[in-house]
Amino acid sequence: MSKEQSSKQVVGYAAAEYVSDNMRLGLGTGSTVAFFLDALAEKIAKEKINVVCVCTSQETEDYAKKLGIPISTLTETPHLDLTVDGADEVDEEFRLIKGGGGALLREKIVAAASESVIIIIGEGKYVDKLGSGFLLPIEVLPFGYASTKTQVGQKGGCTPYLRTIESGEPFITDNGNYIFDCKFDDGIDNPEVTHSILSQIAGVAEVGIFLNLCDLVLEADAEGNLVKHSTDYARNLFA
Ligand code: 5RP
Repeated sequence: MSKEQSSKQVVGYAAAEYVSDNMRLGLGTGSTVAFFLDALAEKIAKEKINVVCVCTSQETEDYAKKLGIPISTLTETPHLDLTVDGADEVDEEFRLIKGGGGALLREKIVAAASESVIIIIGEGKYVDKLGSGFLLPIEVLPFGYASTKTQVGQKGGCTPYLRTIESGEPFITDNGNYIFDCKFDDGIDNPEVTHSILSQIAGVAEVGIFLNLCDLVLEADAEGNLVKHSTDYARNLFA
């Protein structure tokens, strides 16, 4: 396993330690979350705990089902105890950029339905300024997307690129929408303001800036050591 993979494994398995019997869980999306799913499946088998899980993407649902993890829907289980998800960037104010895997809309809905959210990241994702290294994903409706793109660029002060797959066709989300990956030349100066401006543009379904949706960050450093970044809420909750 590469160094990058093993750092993802470290945080994925560390997050599983926060799971206990009878929890209602939100399952994020991505390669780091896949390790959490492995750890969760092992924990369920070993400790015989009961959990019910809501997935943020088809990809996660397919993998969770393969591992035998019990799946529910957000309609059946509208209130969750804990969500574990990855992120593309995290800053010291627990603000996130998400959507690298294109699941940001469901990820935000599931995180908002959760009592607490743990974000698991490998090395290099903890940043001084959001948007300085990663393009900000925004989910948009296909209808009139060229017009939405102009608005996003002008009002958001960024350059949006339509995400495509290998064939050159647009990437389609689980919700049937498109993704713009938006470049901010000097990063995002004020994530709250940028989030608010972009969210108000007609045709934008969701913005990949997550605010107040992260309680604890589990990060693996370059040596693969676990580093915890806790909000006061998480310090009390997970004491
Ligand atoms: C998907 C996401 C992912 O959590 C994010 O892209 C991180 O993925 P990975 O763990 O594969 O680096 O936001 O929409």
